[in-house]
Order: sequence, then structure tokens, then C-alpha cells
Amino acid sequence: MGKIALITGITGQDGSYLAELLLKKNYSVHGVVRRVALEDRTHRLWRLRKILNKITLHAASLESYASLVKIVQKIKPNEVYHLAAQSYVSYSFEDEFSTLNTNIGGTHYILSAVKEFSPKSKFYFAGSSEMFGKVKEVPQNEKTPFNPRSSYGISKVTGYELTKNYREAYNLFCCTGILFNHESPRRGFEFVTRKISHGAARIKLGIQKNLELGNMDAKRDWGHSEDYVLAMWKMLQLKKPEDFVIATGKQHSVREFAKLAFETLDLDYRKYIKYNKIYDRPSEVDSLLGNYSKAKKIIKWEPKISFKELVKNMVTEDLKLVKKQGY
Ligand code: GDD
Repeated sequence: MGKIALITGITGQDGSYLAELLLKKNYSVHGVVRRVALEDRTHRLWRLRKILNKITLHAASLESYASLVKIVQKIKPNEVYHLAAQSYVSYSFEDEFSTLNTNIGGTHYILSAVKEFSPKSKFYFAGSSEMFGKVKEVPQNEKTPFNPRSSYGISKVTGYELTKNYREAYNLFCCTGILFNHESPRRGFEFVTRKISHGAARIKLGIQKNLELGNMDAKRDWGHSEDYVLAMWKMLQLKKPEDFVIATGKQHSVREFAKLAFETLDLDYRKYIKYNKIYDRPSEVDSLLGNYSKAKKIIKWEPKISFKELVKNMVTEDLKLVKKQGY
């Protein structure tokens, strides 16, 4: 019989790719979702459409310890992937309270549930390059000091520290993947890459006139989500838990992303993109660049999909989607 995996955040971009990967590896895949998601399957479970009949979904809330305990106790997973979070950095400035409460509390609850009811489970925490914030060195690796610039970043640093503490204090297999930005055609529309790929497709088809963005000089290390979920799985196959930076080691600006996305559709981005200060952040993370050499050495992981391929993949899928939907 295959292993049992529990994924929080299974309805998201990474959750859906990870579920597909684990199914291919013969896992029995369980996911934690909000009750509303089960009641509104078309809108909330679209990323899981193709695999819905192969996975088991459990209704629970990250804000309720009791609801998480019940699931962990019942299925005693071999592996827990804790991906669920309020993950939109911009929103974390609008509602610091719910970002901190949900992200920190949710991580603490699930760790505690594992410790009490399934201490043999291997646990993965979705850390983030936002933990490096205003970076203290370039490129960033596992030893680079954290310097977060948003309540989202702070919540991830706290989740990282909690994960480390459960590993050290209770001897559990707990690790953090410090993932740099990773995108795909399944990315949420609020993130800049998807906003650009979708906007460009709509402009190409005459549905939208222009696209408003904030800071186009921000630089990120962008990879593809499908590559990154493989790294998560590889981390949990180790004998000893360790934290890893997962990145491409290459950096591009938002402007470069936009230029390439529009070029893919034979458009000149300068004609369509307008600056709107409402998209600027009170404290910005200007530049992130990861060094993934530890992952390369220990879990034999390397990114396969290039920046160019990523942009092309997102734009062509969005063009198909907009054509099909007509809006
Ligand atoms: N969202 C957004 N919308 N960002 C914009 C815009 C815009 O209109 N214009 C410029 N940007 C800039 C932001 O200021 C930021 O510097 C950069 O584009 C990327 O923003 P996002 O795509 O929203 O991602 P993020 O880098 O803040 O956070 C993502 O990556 C983290 C890993 O570093 C999220 O996926 C996080 O959940 C993740 O942890």
C-alpha cells in the first residue's frame, strides 16, 4: 500500500500540483479545505477538477485546533505538507491581524496536532523568500539572516521558528522549504505574474485596453510551481530533517516579465502598462535572489523550467482561457 499524505492548502497552486505528483507516486492523498470550498466546488476547487475523484477532502479550518486534530488523528498521515496560508503579501498590509493569526496559529495548531496524535508523520512547512525581506546578503541561502518587511513575512519567520522548535524540542521530523517566488498558469490573479499574463491575453483579444501595475523595478527569482513541489516531496524523503532554499538562482524584474509576456503575443508592453501607485507597498521587498546549492547537493534538486518557458507557458494558457471564456 502507498503512503498517506495530508495537504493543507490543497486547493491552491502548489497544493494542486503536489497532489498530482503524489498520486503519480501512488500516495493516498488527503486535503484540508474550508467547508465553503466543498459547497462551491466550481469556483474553489477548479485546480483539482481533474483529480477530485482520486483524493479525499476534509472540511476544517486553520483557525480551529479541534477540527485539525480530528483529521490528523483519523488518517495518521506519513507526510504532512502544510501549505495553507494567507499568502498575498499586499493583503497582509490591509489586515495584519488575520494574516498573523491565521498563518501563525494555523502552523502551530497543525504542528501540535502532529506531535500529539501522529508523531511519526514527516512535516513540511511552506516557508518563503519573503522571510529575507530587505536582504542582508546576495544571494540568499539557508544561513542568510531574516529581515521581513510585512506581516506576511513575519508570519513565515514565526512558522519557520515554530517548525524548528518542534524538531528540536520534540524530536519530530519537521522541515521548512524556503521557496522563492514560483508561478504557473494556476497562479492566483492577484499576483503580479498572473495579472500580467492574463492582462496581456485580454489586451491581445481586445477585451481590455491597458494594465495598471505598481513597482516594475522589483526583482524576483521566479521559478515554476511544478518544479518546486518536487523539491517539497524530496525534502520529506530524507532520513534527517533539514531546511532548504528552493530557487532558480536567476533574477528578473517585473518589467522584464511584462516585456516578455507582451512580446509572446507580439505586443509592445510600453503601450499598455500604466503605473498606479495604489499597487505600491508601504514597505517593499526590492530584490530577491536564491542560492539553491544545498538542495542541489543533498536532495539532488534543480529547476528544469526556465524563466522564458514559464512566461510563455502562462501567457499561452491565459490566451486559451480568455478565448474560451470570452472575458
Ligand atoms: N501583486 C502585484 N500587483 N505586485 C506588483 C504589482 C501589481 O500590480 N505591480 C508591481 N508589483 C510588484 C510587487 O510590489 C512585488 O515587488 C512583486 O511585484 C511581486 O509581487 P507578487 O507577485 O504579489 O508576489 P510577492 O513577491 O509579493 O510574494 C509571492 O512570493 C513569495 C515568495 O517570495 C507570494 O507568492 C508569497 O506568498 C510568497 O511567499
